[in-house]
This record gives sequence, C-alpha cells and structure tokens, in this order.
Amino acid sequence: FALSPDREKHVEEILSRYPNRQAACIPVLHVCQEQNGWISDEVVEWVAARLDLSAAHVKGVVTFYTLFNKEPVGKHQVWVCRTLSCALRGADEILHHCEKRLGIHVGETTKDGKVTLRTAECLASCGTAPMIQVDKDYYENLTTAEVDRILDRLIK
Ligand code: FES
Repeated sequence: FALSPDREKHVEEILSRYPNRQAACIPVLHVCQEQNGWISDEVVEWVAARLDLSAAHVKGVVTFYTLFNKEPVGKHQVWVCRTLSCALRGADEILHHCEKRLGIHVGETTKDGKVTLRTAECLASCGTAPMIQVDKDYYENLTTAEVDRILDRLIK
C-alpha cells in the first residue's frame, strides 16, 4: 500500500500536529479511506507501521467506528436514516424504494460498483424527515419521486 503524493503530504501535515503520533490514528485512517474507499488489512498494517502501533490496535479502531468501511464499497454511498422521526415519516418506504431502484439489498453494492446502500442512525435532520445522505450531501423532506431523481444522477 502507498498513498498518492498529495495524500502522503496530508499525512505528514497531520503527524506534525500530533506530538504523540499514535493519537493520529483516526485522521490517518480517514486519508487512507479517501484514497481506497475502504480499509483493507494491508492498509491496517501500513498505518500500524507508520504510527508505531500494533496492527491489532489499528484493526480495533477500524472495527469500532462505523464510518470506516471494512470491505470495498461503491463509488457513491447512500445512507437512509431509519431513526424515529424518519421512520415515522416513511423511511421504510424510501429504503425499499432504493433497494428496488438499485436492484440490491441494504448493505450491498450495485454490480457496476457505482452505489452502496446503507442505513444510518439519526443524521441530525429530524425536522426535515425523511432524509438520506449521499456521500457528503444531505437530501431532506424526500418523496420517492425525489429519490428517483437523486439515484438517476448516481447510476447514469
Ligand atoms: Fe432521521 Fe433524525 S431521525 S434525521
């Protein structure tokens, strides 16, 4: 595993801000995930060696935080919030609609590798439920027709 020159520079910047380099584990893992899309065992070994940590420690961090992907994911990630406000306002219908439209079940990635479908706990936009997150963007007050428009842009 090797980071691109830009990301390597980013890691150096991060390390310069952490006198204790072991504390930089999470931000360094983020940089690796930005490049790879997920954290493989090879990346775990690389981060461990870079930060003087055991691979078991780094693996533990990756396993604990849901924001780290433990397996390859699609180019885009769709997260459907299923917590109370969204659930009361149709999250199940939105989720099933996404599954049907993408031809996958939650947790899976489309065959062309474009989209991974996930569920999320409250995404902090309860007043505008139901909502989904697509990569870094949030879409609120959704109807299935709006979900179609969003997914069409991802899969075209
Ligand atoms: Fe969905 Fe809070 S319950 S954003």
